[in-house]
Amino acid sequence: MDRAQAFHELLNDHRSIRSYRDDPLPDGLADRVLEDALHGTSSSGNLNLVSVVKTQDRARKARLCELHYDQPMVLQAPLLLTFCADTFRTREWLALRHARPGFADFVSWHTAAFDAMILAQTTALGLQSHGLGICYMGTTVFSMRAIADYLEMPPNCLPVTTLVVGWPSEAPAQRDRLPPAAWIHDERYRRPTAAHIEARFAQREERGRKRYMESSPEMARLWQEHGISSLAQYYTSKIKYDPDQFEVFSADLLALLRERGFLG
Ligand SMILES: Cc1cc2nc3c(=O)[nH]c(=O)nc-3n(C[C@H](O)[C@H](O)[C@H](O)COP(=O)(O)O)c2cc1C
Repeated sequence: MDRAQAFHELLNDHRSIRSYRDDPLPDGLADRVLEDALHGTSSSGNLNLVSVVKTQDRARKARLCELHYDQPMVLQAPLLLTFCADTFRTREWLALRHARPGFADFVSWHTAAFDAMILAQTTALGLQSHGLGICYMGTTVFSMRAIADYLEMPPNCLPVTTLVVGWPSEAPAQRDRLPPAAWIHDERYRRPTAAHIEARFAQREERGRKRYMESSPEMARLWQEHGISSLAQYYTSKIKYDPDQFEVFSADLLALLRERGFLG
């Protein structure tokens, strides 16, 4: 099979996996995939402003599971990879070489955080190419301070995302995405009209709503209790991405960036 076809199939086979078998990964596989991923991912200034913490110990996974809002897969999967935006190591190197100090500002946070995210995605693809399942943990952002402290991170180093990794024990259907017309623009950004929004969100809205309704009787009850009648309303409701809660998280994140030396 040619490489383009293999890559097309790898991407089409992608599913977030939320249920895992107990079996461990073969020795050394995660490290090999991580090393390949670092080589195969562009790196801003080739500074490699990233660190990855592997967690396999059950007791430590149990604590991280709490910090990830008790998402059961965190405990179930044999491996957790916490990807960190890390300018600490580079700053230590600068100091040792009597270079001018740097990378303790918001731009460096932004750069390191994006480097960590793109490394995570390459790692995800590498792991999936071995038949492993992965799921990102967005809760890393909400519990950033506690995870950083639990994993003993120094200043100028913060976790940006986590992958749970293991052998899948489920085979979920592919999730739909917005159609190309919704997000690919020729030459310049074309603002969608209300009619465009209607048309381009129709399928996702219908399928997303149906999936949530069918996911559990509890979810259907919650939608009713919160007066939710569409997927859009669900997303900013109290039970999904509550804007009031996000305001609190945002203030915490800014305070944390300041405290850990990422805002000068
Ligand atoms: C940054 C990021 C954070 C995510 N956080 C979570 C999470 O905390 N829990 C979860 O079950 N899925 C999480 N996901 C997975 C998404 O829900 C999933 O990618 C999306 O529903 C599309 O499904 P698919 O990956 O199977 O195509 C996250 C995905 C990303 C990219």
